[in-house]
This record gives sequence, structure tokens and C-alpha cells, in this order.
Amino acid sequence: MSAILILYSTVDGHTRTICERIGRTLAAAGHGVTLARIEDAGGIDLPAYDRIVIGASVRCGRHRPSVFEFVEANRSVLERRPNAFFTVNIVARKPEKNRPETNPYLRAFLRRTRWRPQLLDVFAGRLDYPRCRPLDRLVIRCIMWLTGGPTDPAAVVEFTDWTRVEAFARRVAAM
Ligand SMILES: Cc1cc2nc3c(=O)[nH]c(=O)nc-3n(C[C@H](O)[C@H](O)[C@H](O)COP(=O)(O)O)c2cc1C
Repeated sequence: MSAILILYSTVDGHTRTICERIGRTLAAAGHGVTLARIEDAGGIDLPAYDRIVIGASVRCGRHRPSVFEFVEANRSVLERRPNAFFTVNIVARKPEKNRPETNPYLRAFLRRTRWRPQLLDVFAGRLDYPRCRPLDRLVIRCIMWLTGGPTDPAAVVEFTDWTRVEAFARRVAAM
């Protein structure tokens, strides 16, 4: 059994939901799992964990600064044990943009950090128009209109491929 830490960076909670699914799969495989917001990781004894997974969503074209700050401050601890990173974004609903090699936000993430996670993945996120602020809703609807996605302002669409999330969890378990 390994002690696995899963850190998440989320705004509306979907990345946390993905982390919870990963956590359940790992726990079912006999591992001890701790989930925490990356903003709260300062109080966590990182060396006590055998593996560390980080998941972060994209908003307005970027991952949040707290993700880069954590990675820069803790890169040596991360690199001394099996480690993994995944990004959550809506662009990844497109098959040609849902791989680590083809997702523009994952590529941008790797350009901004010296951390080279041993395992990488990309998950499509959730679109929840009713929950968006009016200006955000308008901007996202325009982007969806341009890219062939849903534009109904009442739409709530989960693009996440949960089978793929669980496959990622099994790869973490096998690290
Ligand atoms: C205000 C807003 C901005 C977003 N910007 C982007 C973006 O630039 N690119 C993208 O692919 N997805 C974008 N998304 C989609 C989010 O990545 C998606 O909703 C994800 O599931 C959010 O995860 P979270 O709830 O963990 O933050 C945006 C969503 C919102 C509400």
C-alpha cells in the first residue's frame, strides 16, 4: 500500500470531483489517499507521501498561479517520488486536442515549468452555463459557437470521459 497525495486546483469544483473519482479507484486498489486543495498544501508534510498527483483546471486560457507556485517551491520533493499531473479544460472535448501531446494548455503548462511529470493526462471538463456570470456566459457561448460546441444558455454538459479518468488512476496505482 502506498500513501498517495492528490492536490487539486479548481474554481467550480469539477477538478475536485475528478480527483475524488481517482481517489476512490486508488483506495479500491488498497492505497491510502489524501485529497487537498493545492492552496492548502503548505500545511501538508509532502515527504510523508509515496506518490503525488496534481490536477488543475483552465480558466480564461490558463492554469492558476497557485499551481506554478506550488510546483516551483516543491519540485525537488515532487521529483523524488512517482508524480503525475493532469489538466481539465473544455478544449479537450475535441478528440484532436485531448492528448498530452495535442492539448494546448498542457503544452503551455510544460513550457512554464521545469517540472516534468512522469505521468500526464488531459480530461475534458464541464460546461455549466446557468452557473456562469453573464459576461463569462456570453464569452463562452461565442467561443462555443465558433468551435461547434453547445450554445444553449441553459445547457449543462459534462464532457469528462470517466473511463479515461479511471484508467489514469490505474496508471497511478501501477507507478
Ligand atoms: C469563466 C470560465 C472560463 C473558462 N475558460 C476556459 C478556457 O480558456 N479554455 C478551456 O478549454 N476551458 C475553459 N473553461 C472551461 C473549464 O476548464 C471547465 O469548465 C472545467 O470543468 C472547470 O473546472 P473547475 O470547476 O475544476 O474549475 C472555462 C470555464 C469558465 C466557467
